[in-house]
Amino acid sequence: AAIRKYAARLPIPPVMPQDPRDAHTDLDFYTIGVRQFRQQVLPPGSPATTVWGYGSARHPGTFHYPAFTIEAKVDRPVRVRWVNELLDAEGRYLPHLLPVDPTLHWANPPGGRLGRDSRPEFTSTPGPYTGPVPIVTHLHGGLNTEESDGYPEAWYLPDARDVPASYARTGSFYDKFRIKAEALSDARWGPGDAVFQYANEGRASTLWYHDHCLGITRLNVYAGLAGFYLMRGGPSDVEGDALPGPAPRMGDPPGARYYEIPVVIQDRSFHADGSLLYPASRARFDGFKGPYIPASDIPPIWNPEFFGDTMLANGRTWPVLPVEPRRYRFRFLNGCNSRTLILKVVADPLARRPASPALTLWQIGSDGGFLQAPVELGQLLVAPAERVDVVVDFTGLPTGAELYLINEGPDDPFQGGRVGADFSPADPKTTGQVMKFVVRPLTAPDRSTPPSQLTLPSFKPLGGAFRARRLSLNEADSLRLPGVGPRVTLLGTVESVGRPDPLGWDAPVTENPTLESTEIWELWNFTVDAHPIHVHEVQFQVVDRRRFGELPRPPEVWERGFKDTVLVYPKAITRVKVRFSHAGQYVWHCHMLEHEDNEMMRPFTVSPR
Ligand code: C2O
Ligand code: CU
Repeated sequence: AAIRKYAARLPIPPVMPQDPRDAHTDLDFYTIGVRQFRQQVLPPGSPATTVWGYGSARHPGTFHYPAFTIEAKVDRPVRVRWVNELLDAEGRYLPHLLPVDPTLHWANPPGGRLGRDSRPEFTSTPGPYTGPVPIVTHLHGGLNTEESDGYPEAWYLPDARDVPASYARTGSFYDKFRIKAEALSDARWGPGDAVFQYANEGRASTLWYHDHCLGITRLNVYAGLAGFYLMRGGPSDVEGDALPGPAPRMGDPPGARYYEIPVVIQDRSFHADGSLLYPASRARFDGFKGPYIPASDIPPIWNPEFFGDTMLANGRTWPVLPVEPRRYRFRFLNGCNSRTLILKVVADPLARRPASPALTLWQIGSDGGFLQAPVELGQLLVAPAERVDVVVDFTGLPTGAELYLINEGPDDPFQGGRVGADFSPADPKTTGQVMKFVVRPLTAPDRSTPPSQLTLPSFKPLGGAFRARRLSLNEADSLRLPGVGPRVTLLGTVESVGRPDPLGWDAPVTENPTLESTEIWELWNFTVDAHPIHVHEVQFQVVDRRRFGELPRPPEVWERGFKDTVLVYPKAITRVKVRFSHAGQYVWHCHMLEHEDNEMMRPFTVSPR
């Protein structure tokens, strides 16, 4: 049966409380668990959904999907004890909510090594993994140190009482980072946790945190492990009342009004009983839009992308937000596994695509903070993991007016070689709609500055680059790589023009920039799809894009700030300028989570000078 739209309000995640038992004067301390619980995701009257979420382990009411927001101040450290609490009431481990594909290169606790080994569940017909769930949290967009970055092989299991002795309880990088972190601070890591510290030395910006465990990131994030992390203050922030606010704060009374609202948009599918549906095979079934590849080709469970049939904002299907006739600041995050969004505000949600916008959107910030100046846009192109900070002006609209946030991105991998390229927009009846705004009376004057008159903080671009690297994006037929399993999407290097050398996750490091150096990374996309490429530990600048054989084009106007994720178009070279500010081992990868989980991720190391 069709899911009723606009039947519940948009949830606005409150602020994550700190850990009162471990207060520090010089840093903010949190103890954040990962738990399984039930939550109303579908409309009222429909069954609740079992999800995973983060929450303050000291405050039982704070577990929520998406997570409560971490409010951080520029240059004030945040320390988080991230606890894997995927346990039942008796302290036994909970199995994964979703089907794990044991034939991918994944965390694989029993051996601590590769999935493609001699264990019986691999050599016979593999079924989904049923053991305890490894996790590791990444602060996306943070200029993190390596031991706190959430390296995909630094995962750890819950401290469960029934984990068989043969299981590796931690990944191969966990102890290395634990020893390093414990030498730097008084915080000890315990069984089932890791203590990460973030210096918050970047600019005021919209970051987010999510799970990053090797080979099951797509599943852990889909189950609900994501939340906002907002960095404020310092010379890179806008002071006073110029921007619409407030955002949620600690101790707000129920019913407090917010004019700055973070919104994570995600697609999901559901079984009739309300449970999350994630494909357990490549068999065709309702609720999953594909794409499909023959089961004879590669592993039994993994699908190359996920496209659900339902849109969620802040963990609710098609919610409603009452708005006043004034300006709002929204921080939109594309939290989808694979889907690139094209967002627009329109009067008629079923209007023929492309629809004409009812309101323009003033983008003021990108992944890494404020742009140089606000840009007025009819639509927002947002690839997985990208954030857009926008002001929307509802001033002058009559009480009762209704507007809709729609999505004109495709129900398929985005192929636009350039914005506006040919593709079919998402189904206007389902995934082509996101949420509704209903205008109610103004309760207080709007003191914010109209975006056309807004001055944004001064912007210091990166300096000259020391060297350039040519890197490749490839898709490889697994049958041509016998014995190494299901490699379908790959990153690698470009040996000479037109000669890519695709490499898997466990090939030796090929990118080894020096600390404090600035480089140009040329991303050569030999595939037919656009891929959102994310580099850890940095905020980069987009330099230009050039289709193979054509002249370079400058970045889009909304990309002229700092970014950590960039859409790399097919059959083109996208160049980014990157400065490396922490030594250590990190990763860069495609943020289509199904790609990331199947080899489209590579380690890189930043060496001390
Ligand atoms: Cu948002 Cu490496 O991830
Ligand atoms: Cu990709």
